[in-house]
Amino acid sequence: MKEEIMDVALKRGFLIPSNEAYGQVSGFYDYGSVGAPMKRKIEDAWRKSFIWRDGNLEVETVMILPEIVLKASGHVGHFGDPLVGCEKCKKKFRADTLVADAIGEKAGEGGQGEHVKRLKEHLARLPGMNPEELTEKMRELGIGCPECGGGFGEVGWFNLMFKTNIGPVEGNPGYARPETAQGIFLAFPRVFRAHGSRLPLGIGQIGKSFRNEISPRQGLIRLREFTQMELEYFFNPESALHPRFGEVEGRKVRVLTREAQVSGSDEAQEFTAKELVEKKIAPNQIMAYFLARETEFYESLGVPSGDFRFRHMLKEETPHYSGGNFDLEVSTSYGWVETIGTAYRTDFDLSSHAKTSGQDLSVFIEEEKKKIIPHVVEPSFGVDRLFWAVLEKCYRSGGGAEGRDWSWFDFPPRIAPFGCAVLPLMKKDGLKEYAEGLVRALREEGVNALFDVSGSIGKRYARQDEIGTPYCVTADYESLEKGTVTVRFRNDGKQVRVPAGELPARLREFAKAGKVTA
Ligand code: GLY
Repeated sequence: MKEEIMDVALKRGFLIPSNEAYGQVSGFYDYGSVGAPMKRKIEDAWRKSFIWRDGNLEVETVMILPEIVLKASGHVGHFGDPLVGCEKCKKKFRADTLVADAIGEKAGEGGQGEHVKRLKEHLARLPGMNPEELTEKMRELGIGCPECGGGFGEVGWFNLMFKTNIGPVEGNPGYARPETAQGIFLAFPRVFRAHGSRLPLGIGQIGKSFRNEISPRQGLIRLREFTQMELEYFFNPESALHPRFGEVEGRKVRVLTREAQVSGSDEAQEFTAKELVEKKIAPNQIMAYFLARETEFYESLGVPSGDFRFRHMLKEETPHYSGGNFDLEVSTSYGWVETIGTAYRTDFDLSSHAKTSGQDLSVFIEEEKKKIIPHVVEPSFGVDRLFWAVLEKCYRSGGGAEGRDWSWFDFPPRIAPFGCAVLPLMKKDGLKEYAEGLVRALREEGVNALFDVSGSIGKRYARQDEIGTPYCVTADYESLEKGTVTVRFRNDGKQVRVPAGELPARLREFAKAGKVTA
């Protein structure tokens, strides 16, 4: 499945292997002329749902950060993986993965299966397991090189950040940011003051982050340069409430609880957002609010709720300051893939930056007449992984209308790469010129419309289905006589006639309603 979809994604312009002429460097992908507008639409959909709807604010902060910022955040000291090299073939591996695999195999032998393997894997990544302990563990388990069977040397530590020097004089290190979040924490005091000095306050941003992964693989799942959509929701811990919780309290959320994981079950259970709070599964109402909104958002992008779950991370997997983390995991052809992390980061980041910088990052709470450091809940979305999940969930290999034998994408119209395609039935008799007028008018109205005159009309419809275009507008002889055009719906291939002058409005109406059949 993944090979088939990647093949389609490359062939139809969704993705391009970066620097292809020189041989792709793993961990980097470009978005092509079809993928880029779709990625942008996913980002816009997030902006509407997670920034605008709740009156949150958006910033755009820099990607290169001086070392001191990332020392304060803990990334310089702790953001890395244990690395070990084979003494024979010289290949490098993540030591914790080797240990987890070895433990997992033993667990499998005991008949406990995949779930226990995962659990042990997590336990093997305890922050307490330093390189020395991992070296010892590898020896104890007799782990040899999976490639050549050779022996391993000592486990070392590899920081995952891309390092550079800021300016021409050496000794001024900087890093490409490993998350967009730190820029938001540093922007917080000014945004807070510029918007009435009130909590709660949500500040988000969409942007690139960078992680120098040891062995990136799995297409878009593990990239060295990737896009995040992160929201930091600052609040007074004395009132960890969300003003719009009432709108989502009945919304069902699928959770793989800690208890289920520890008892070896892989079954998610359904809870309402309200139950998550009442049963104290979520640490507070704000977390439950975001889990509910994330569920709605994913469903609206064509990822069915039965195909994802929130895994409540075990205490041992989360940093000491965490008040609780939930990973939204989507079932994909790569297995369960984490695509959103929702973390209760408490006051850790602001407190660390206050301590390191010597600045006062507390805020004054008028009602309580005291200063506090706000707490933060952070929903952090990986755009590339979400993009891949949408491709997988919307892919249809044949079937659909007209007994089609071509593969196509059932994207919700609001994130389809193109709003519509305009196709003159023929090039002659003024039909092409008429259709050119239509496409110009649509583009002026803000619809990103494609224009295609080459090949039979059947082939052109098929080409649009293949990239998930929801509507094909055809100009025919009746258009010249009566000023009406046909709109063909992607999913059933049926058509309706609409007056050409109403086209932009009608298409907008169809897209807003998610209409994909006549
Ligand atoms: N800000 C959370 C993360 O990047 O994983």
